[in-house]
Amino acid sequence: MVLEKRGALSGAKFVSFEGIDGCGKTTLMDRLAGWLEEAGIACIRVREPGGTSIGEKIREILLDTACSEMTRRTEVLLYSASRAQLIGEVIEPALEKGAWVLADRFVDATFAYQGFGRGFDLERLAMIQRWATGGLWPDKTILLDCDVAVAASRLGQRPGAKRDRIESEAGDFHKKVREGYLFLAREEPTRFVILDAAKPLEEVAKDFHERFWLAEG
Ligand code: TMP
Repeated sequence: MVLEKRGALSGAKFVSFEGIDGCGKTTLMDRLAGWLEEAGIACIRVREPGGTSIGEKIREILLDTACSEMTRRTEVLLYSASRAQLIGEVIEPALEKGAWVLADRFVDATFAYQGFGRGFDLERLAMIQRWATGGLWPDKTILLDCDVAVAASRLGQRPGAKRDRIESEAGDFHKKVREGYLFLAREEPTRFVILDAAKPLEEVAKDFHERFWLAEG
């Protein structure tokens, strides 16, 4: 699959965090935000779907367990619409100002969940994504990889845990999503950094520091 790269807007970095539900993305995003702050580098954090008032409304529809009749096409278009709004309203202006952008999921989630998970044609998805993003692609993508059972047990441990429409999918779906992410990472080894998210959190954070922060700095 040929993916486009963003043009050099500035020295800013666009970093996305991906993985199956329960893989522990938030903790690593917190760490990176902290390192950037210590280094005096501006950054913003966004999440998908959502991150804008329009996107958050789309998120509610996408994750609502009552929306069980949603078709695959509708799902793809809603995730893509939320993304298009987030790029235009938040991500591009931030990159243009020189801030780093840390994204809790981006295009790879659509390839992994809708492409590999739901079986949506990958070439068609790539076409829709190119249009929705205007070709804006992350500079680096951190993939937190772990077994579906490990992630599921973490999800169950979250306080007040109630599964949303996507999290409620059967284990097989999440297995396909995981395999999808690993396929995408193999296709673009320079953009992706794969971390073993089954390790204790402090070890994952240490690997992240060595393999991303020190390597990129
Ligand atoms: P979150 O729980 O990480 O905020 O993500 C919301 C859910 O939406 C999660 O189960 C992954 C799923 N998702 C997709 O299926 N496709 C996408 O393009 C994105 C961004 C998320």
